[in-house]
Amino acid sequence: SDTELGTHPHYMIKEINEQPQVMRKIIKEYQDDYGELKIDKNIISQLNDADRLYIIAAGTSYHAGLIGKEYFEKWAGVPTEVHVASEFVYNTPLLSKKPLFIFISQSGETADSRAVLVDIKKKGYKSLTITNVPGSTLSREADETLILHAGPEIAVASTKAYVAQIAVLAITAAVTARELNKVSDMDLMSELAKVTTAITAVIEDADKIENIVKNYLETARNAFFIGRAMDYYVGLEGALKLKEISYIQAEGFAGGELKHGTIALIEDGTPVFALSTQAKVDLNIRSNAQEVQARGANVCVVAMEGLEQEGDAYVIPKVDEMLTPLVSVVVYQLISYYAALHRGNDVDKPRNLAKSVTVE
Ligand code: AGP
Repeated sequence: SDTELGTHPHYMIKEINEQPQVMRKIIKEYQDDYGELKIDKNIISQLNDADRLYIIAAGTSYHAGLIGKEYFEKWAGVPTEVHVASEFVYNTPLLSKKPLFIFISQSGETADSRAVLVDIKKKGYKSLTITNVPGSTLSREADETLILHAGPEIAVASTKAYVAQIAVLAITAAVTARELNKVSDMDLMSELAKVTTAITAVIEDADKIENIVKNYLETARNAFFIGRAMDYYVGLEGALKLKEISYIQAEGFAGGELKHGTIALIEDGTPVFALSTQAKVDLNIRSNAQEVQARGANVCVVAMEGLEQEGDAYVIPKVDEMLTPLVSVVVYQLISYYAALHRGNDVDKPRNLAKSVTVE
């Protein structure tokens, strides 16, 4: 069954390997008989009525929200803010006239997010929950729900739910764009199918990625993840994943912020993961990589096909630039998995962590 480990050594690797299947399921669930993107009409009207979207989430789901903002703003032209739930509750920003609150939560049980939902409902605002668990608290209490269809996620470190969240956000934003008559030359469903193939290719490269761990992380005490634009957001997720299960202190930050402080931490051999999947910032991130390399960092570049250079540690297959997080994150998931495994850590149940945080 879905919740059994089978021949897999850990739930985390099982769930990483399930990602192509999750993508196929989402493509199927969010398509009508004519192959058009399909979303419940009540949700479409919620989105059409809103003058601004407020995405509320925590941890990995927050990182997925950051990517979602790109889709809503770039495709649909709808202003979107992304907030960490625990901050939003006590430090609520000025709201627009017709906000729609979108809660992203794998479990649907995160207490900080629920606190926001309770508060905004009191104020009479509309809500949509995007969750993996039908019938969860956030699903029951919000006006509308979109399901992730990722299947049960057991490992504490979220993997397939993140990919599912990004895919569902992309579909939701594309439908919003269509309803607002924004022209697009992109066939999202066929691009998501290409993404599925690319994820499969990365998973088949697991041995190669395990070698990256041997070359960069075996004795590391800390590690940095740099990127620009969407690659920055994926770096945040890469760092979170690595710290959660390997206990290596990791930080993700925007490449351009390096010289504003963090570069002081670079020593001989410090591992720095640099991601380059966005043509417009490729040269910038490459020069950031050189800056740290010149100060002794052990730089591991992960680039997308078409932007790759000699010496890059890993090249992900080419997919649409807006969809690269779905593929590049899998490299970071596998790096984190092997780093934790090599350290003899409990991969599925890291110390001090719970799968969902049900107290504020
Ligand atoms: C992910 O690897 C973490 N364990 C954690 O950050 C998680 O994403 C966060 O607690 C949010 O959970 P949720 O999606 O169930 O609301």
